[in-house]
Amino acid sequence: MSNVLRLAIVDPSDNSRNALKNMLLGMDIVWLEAECSRFEFFADVVGQTKPDIGVVSIDSNPEKGLKLIEQMREIAPECAVLVVSSSTDGQLILKAMRAGAKEFLAQPVKVEDLLHALDRISVAKYGGGGGNSRSCQVVAVCGATGGVGSTSLAVNLACMLSAEQKNSVVLCDLDLSLGDADVFLDTIPDYTLVDVAQNITRLDFTLLKRSLTKHSSGLYLLPRPVQLQDASLVSPEDLTRVLGLLKASFTHMILDLSKSYNALDMVALRSAKDILLVTQLDLPCLRNVVRLMMSFNEVEGLKDKVKIIVNRVGLDSGQISLKKAQETMGREIYWQLPNDYKTMVEVRNNGVPLIDQAPRASITQAISTLVDSLNNEKAAGQQAEDGDAKSGGWLGFLGGKGKAKK
Ligand SMILES: Nc1ncnc2c1ncn2[C@@H]1O[C@H](COP(=O)(O)OP(=O)(O)OP(=O)(O)O)[C@@H](O)[C@H]1O
Ligand SMILES: [Mg+2]
Repeated sequence: MSNVLRLAIVDPSDNSRNALKNMLLGMDIVWLEAECSRFEFFADVVGQTKPDIGVVSIDSNPEKGLKLIEQMREIAPECAVLVVSSSTDGQLILKAMRAGAKEFLAQPVKVEDLLHALDRISVAKYGGGGGNSRSCQVVAVCGATGGVGSTSLAVNLACMLSAEQKNSVVLCDLDLSLGDADVFLDTIPDYTLVDVAQNITRLDFTLLKRSLTKHSSGLYLLPRPVQLQDASLVSPEDLTRVLGLLKASFTHMILDLSKSYNALDMVALRSAKDILLVTQLDLPCLRNVVRLMMSFNEVEGLKDKVKIIVNRVGLDSGQISLKKAQETMGREIYWQLPNDYKTMVEVRNNGVPLIDQAPRASITQAISTLVDSLNNEKAAGQQAEDGDAKSGGWLGFLGGKGKAKK
């Protein structure tokens, strides 16, 4: 991951220092260079380790803390100071900023606030786009009806992304009643979404990663609850918080949604950058796509994120043609996945992802090029935000294998 920020922390209180340290340790956007429990020693630590950011927690002695910030401005002007305090005293905040602090964070530190502060510091240091270079790519996979192949796609997409060493990927099973992502991955999880949601306020990144199930591909799975009645224990607010925490610690998050389009599914759709809506070429499916798109229209920004994925192309001669389907849906087909029942059933029953079970199968290739296309779009989007998008960019790439022919 580019633009990793090197940090040093000073906090005389073991409790708050450890809490902050645990939060930082799980983030792959920062590297904890040094920690210190005494204000007196921190200037030396900074002088020796030359971190990008010095985190100064001032509650135990604000006066000493402010002096240290001033001292740091002289001895390490390149080091951005981030102050942490539970005080809401405007005078103290002003003094800290005048002493040279770049950011002031309220204690207890919230992950989102920390991330935004790190983003601003990164942008100031590396220029525009610093925040984007490390943002998490969130892909929600949903279906036009039951059994269209959304879990098959979500699981295999996630495994393919995990195969790239630079990626860290988490898959969340949000089909809280009947989700089966754990079966596809042949895993027996210790913890589920309910455990994580219920302990969200106490979780740091290290604990979070320990609560997830790690698959041999490197993919992390957050499965649905074991008991049906536990599904009601996860509120939309809990899920928002869980997704926020996951976003902060992974480069990619794949969300496998339920087919009920409930409040939790809507949280997932809102947090996604891409929504892959899986359909097949039959009338009930296509009708549902139209209905879903009408409902998505009601939520700002949702419709534009949707990419239609037609699964099981070539299933039987009675299928509606791609051209007719496109007309019916009033939307372009983004990708086609071929019908390959034998391979897909083997993959599911053996609990082995496509890249291991059938690396050369056309369905594997189609999902693999879909992954490339999504990645290229992300790169193009980032370039555009950085102001150096080249015309043609990812559009040129869209002649890719699984891409729908017009
Ligand atoms: N491209 C494909 N070709 C043939 N069979 C497929 C294909 N994709 C998925 N399937 C099969 O379709 C069935 C349903 O797939 P899957 O469980 O992924 O769908 P789903 O949309 O997640 O279902 P649910 O609504 O139960 O969550 C499985 O038996 C799977 O093996
Ligand atoms: Mg499913």
